[in-house]
Formats: sequence, C-alpha cells, structure tokens
Amino acid sequence: MTENSARAASRTAPRFPAPAQGQLTEEMKQSFNDNGVLVLENFVSREVCEQLMQRAGEIVEAFDPDEFRAVFSTTQKSHEGNSYFEQSGDKIRCFFEEEAFDEQGNLKQSKALSINKIGHAQHDLDPVFSAFSRNPALAQIAANLGMAQPLLSQSMYIFKQPRIGGEVVCHQDSTFLYTEPHSCIGLWFALEDATIENGCMWGLPGHHKAPLKKRHYRNAAGKLVTEKLNDSSWPEEDRVPLDVKQGSLIVLHGQLPHLSGPNRSDKSRQAYTLHLIDGACHYPDSNWLVRSPDLPFRGFETDNA
Ligand code: FE2
Repeated sequence: MTENSARAASRTAPRFPAPAQGQLTEEMKQSFNDNGVLVLENFVSREVCEQLMQRAGEIVEAFDPDEFRAVFSTTQKSHEGNSYFEQSGDKIRCFFEEEAFDEQGNLKQSKALSINKIGHAQHDLDPVFSAFSRNPALAQIAANLGMAQPLLSQSMYIFKQPRIGGEVVCHQDSTFLYTEPHSCIGLWFALEDATIENGCMWGLPGHHKAPLKKRHYRNAAGKLVTEKLNDSSWPEEDRVPLDVKQGSLIVLHGQLPHLSGPNRSDKSRQAYTLHLIDGACHYPDSNWLVRSPDLPFRGFETDNA
C-alpha cells in the first residue's frame, strides 16, 4: 500500500445498516445526495450470496472458452470493435481476464479462475439473477432516489479473480449508460468480502456533482468510440476505499467517479452489479448497449408484462 492509499484508507464513505424493505431514511437519502454513494451493510444474506456465486459458476461451466476468446479490458479498450462484446447487451456472455492466457494462447489457470465477468443481460435471461434483481427492496430504493420509471438496463457478474483480476480505471457509469437527462444508478452487491488487498472499489465522494467527463457511444460509422467531453482530471487524493463485507450493497450515482485496483491476492472478490436507468429519460440509439426488439428493457415487475 502506498503512502497515499494508506491515507485514503483512513477515510471512507458513510455506512448504514440495510433498511427494512429498502425504505431509505432521510439521512440515507441526504448522504447519497451529498456523496453520490451509499453503502448499505448486510443487504444480502450469506445464503443468497452463495446461491448467486453457485449460479455464476454454472454459467461459466457451460461456457466453451474455445468458442470465443474475448478479452475484456478497460485499459486497452480491446473490446471496442469486438462484436462479441458489442452484441452482448441482450445476452449472457463470459469475458476472460486480460491476463488469463499465456504467450501460446493457453489458459494459465482453470477456466473457472480465468473469467473476468459475465454480462450483460442475465438479470432478464437467467431465472436466478432475474429473481434476485427484482427484489422489491431494490424497487423501493430506486423510488426513494427519485426514479420515475426504473428500468434494469445492464447486469454484470464480476469475478475479480485471485492474482489476475484486472483493474478498472476511474470512470462514471453514465459514460456507458447515457440518458438525457442523466439517470443511471448502479447497484453493486458484494458477494464476498471486498478489501483493499483483493481489489475493492474506490470512489470519490462528492464528485458526482461534476459534469460527465466522457461518453462511450456508437458513431455515425457504427464504431464504438469514447468521446472526451472535458479535459479535467479526477483528484487522486479524494479517492476513498469502498471496502465492504459480504452482503453489502453499494449504491452509486451514475456520475460518481469510481475505480478498482487489480487483485494480486489469493482471494477472489466476486460482485454482482445491476444498472438502472429511468425510462422517463431519453435513451439515444447511439448508446453502446442495444436490445433486440423482442427483449426490451424491463422494470422491477416480476412477470413479463
Ligand atoms: Fe462502474
């Protein structure tokens, strides 16, 4: 740990016990408005965390790595122009860690320990993830945070594998889940303890009030690009670790800058994320995440109506 990260580790975002039925208190709402991040501890039981981890393991087990060796990387942008990634908005696909393969193209460790993430529609297509994602307590949180017509737009199951778990550079989720006006809210569930050692998230509380810095979209030529909207940089000294215990829910404002470091420890740091957008806002056709007409974005309703 560097001197800077040791100093940052002494600060953190406020934490609250999980509210009954997701009913946020005024203090929680105020904290979210002030910080752009809300940490709710003990939101998911250990049993449910284990159930989701087991289901993710089954999805990976059924995945054939020779079918497509896509490498997902936010540092090299290697997924841009990659149709496996681009067309995953309405599918369940597995993406490898960047360091999963050796120079000969063979997996360095078992398949189960080589997957970076599963994305991006298991919340609609997989019964276990759909049921978890449509917990009425989450609908209550979305309503408390002012969403008029919450839609479950994207889910990711993130493994943050031991030793090779890649870093995620500082970003705002509204860069990728862009609406006019901005409406994205991220729900990040710790399915295992997330520590500084195994690559927990870090956030910059309060910086959600700054404008969006980048937008990732499909240009007129149909190519995914990331456009810089302004040149300012995030102040590193304002980063605080969002290290949390298993079962915690971290609610992220779509403009909150956040990141996570690589995992060089021997422990995984599995997490499930769900991103909401407000159906009352405009969702441009140029957004990277597109759905086929037979699988439109859905809200928290548990039927297919
Ligand atoms: Fe993010």
